[in-house]
Amino acid sequence: MQQHSDVLTRKRSLLWAVRIATVALGTVCAAASALECGITLQTDDALRFIPSHITVPATCKDFTVTLTHKGHLPPLAMSHNWVLTKKSDLDGVARTGMLAGADAHHVDQNDKRVIAHTKLIGMGETTAVTFEVSQLKVGEPYVFLCTFAGHSPIMRGTLSVQ
Ligand code: CO
Repeated sequence: MQQHSDVLTRKRSLLWAVRIATVALGTVCAAASALECGITLQTDDALRFIPSHITVPATCKDFTVTLTHKGHLPPLAMSHNWVLTKKSDLDGVARTGMLAGADAHHVDQNDKRVIAHTKLIGMGETTAVTFEVSQLKVGEPYVFLCTFAGHSPIMRGTLSVQ
């Protein structure tokens, strides 16, 4: 009788251990997927995005890009934005963005080739944009760039959906 109840107790505690592990695993997975559906890109007074490649999980409904500017030069000289387009549309989007001017955040609102973009930010500022992942295709090469005057030939990166 004593032995039987021991087995029962062990079975029960095993069951609880499994339950607790399941809940813990669920929490870890939720936290991981929340992290993967967004990224922070750092910029400064150099014409670069850190990191310069973004992998967007196809399982994300939305993806958020947060852009920071850790530089020290005044905004008139060194502002940045983040503009997403197809690789094949890069030159065209760079051109319309530059022509749009700083008041328009260097983005032409009529340019349908722009998939997503942030506003223009200066030193010490942070901004973010969230876009629907369903707009993007697995296997299509995407690029992101800063369209502030003169930056686009150097300040760019790549994005893919996996
Ligand atoms: Co820039």
